[in-house]
Amino acid sequence: MASTAEYRLGEFDYPRGWFMIGDADELGSGPATLHFFGKDLVFYRGMSGTPHLVQAYCPHMGAHLGRNSTSYIVRDGSQVEGESIRCPFHGWRFGPNGQCNDIPYSPNFIPKAACLTTYPVVERAGIVWMWHDPEGLKPDQDLPTFAAWEKENEGWVRWLIDDYGTLPVHPIEIVDNMADFGHMGPIHGSIDNQYFDNLFEGHKLVQRFDAGHRTLTVEANDTLSLDTWYEGPAILQVDMRGTFPSHMLIAHTPIDNGTVRVWHALMVKMPDATAAQADLQTARGYQRASRDALGQDVEIWANKASCVNPMQIPADGPYGKVRLWYSQFYNPRDKAAAIQKRVEGQVVTFGKQRVVERAA
Ligand code: FES
Ligand SMILES: [Fe+2]
Repeated sequence: MASTAEYRLGEFDYPRGWFMIGDADELGSGPATLHFFGKDLVFYRGMSGTPHLVQAYCPHMGAHLGRNSTSYIVRDGSQVEGESIRCPFHGWRFGPNGQCNDIPYSPNFIPKAACLTTYPVVERAGIVWMWHDPEGLKPDQDLPTFAAWEKENEGWVRWLIDDYGTLPVHPIEIVDNMADFGHMGPIHGSIDNQYFDNLFEGHKLVQRFDAGHRTLTVEANDTLSLDTWYEGPAILQVDMRGTFPSHMLIAHTPIDNGTVRVWHALMVKMPDATAAQADLQTARGYQRASRDALGQDVEIWANKASCVNPMQIPADGPYGKVRLWYSQFYNPRDKAAAIQKRVEGQVVTFGKQRVVERAA
């Protein structure tokens, strides 16, 4: 697999943005050992339940904060105190800002440099998200709200998380999908294509696609209408109007430079008044159909050679623009506006141009 440098994406190996790090239920209260962005990390919850994410290795002498089962600190259940976490080796304790705030055998001296790198984390829609920034700055993008999660009283059935695991592909090849009109028929069974365009809007990238579909519609003449968008480099959402209205998430997070972990989830709006009354079996079946549709892409990604330069033909979507848009996240944030300006606008790949509706 090719690395970020081979794709010539920018100054940084890893992008700036919000990223999924796991299913909140699966992560539990931790400490849980994670590996993203080429780094070993530890997730834990403070006693309030608040999630925290820190570097895995203790600045004192390098012990792993999450990989221990035999230290008395771990066996006694005293590793987490309040919002702080204690190292299993010599018991140094680190607060939620990463700073060491207790050394059991040194009451009067704590070195300033005894500090863990910490990362902003938010739990939302059953998922734990982290902010990653190669410049170490605060978030300049909002984490999406995933509004349907709070609409069980309107018939929305919350999603379960499907984990596709680690794929040997750079995330740029997943983002390429935004311009990929040509794979819709062969891979996903789209028929009677009607419309395909892309909108480039700052840190947002939209795809609008209307067609018939061989699996996600019921009646022969039903059209599946998809509004798909990235907010930032790694959170893709889809409003899908097919047999049922549904809201899809595809999230992907770099593991190392050139590998990525991919998750899928789908919330489905059932005709019943509340999710409690809804036909859960039907909703789950619909999520499985959507998961399997993404599985068709995943099988390609899991087995393909790296594509550093797509052999683009006129009927293909705007791969070059999509890659340029994506490069904004691999460069210092003060360069992002100039990159956005170069791609801003609409590209219609198939069908009669449609007006771009904008919120007032
Ligand atoms: S290595 Fe962590 S306290 Fe010594
Ligand atoms: Fe696809």
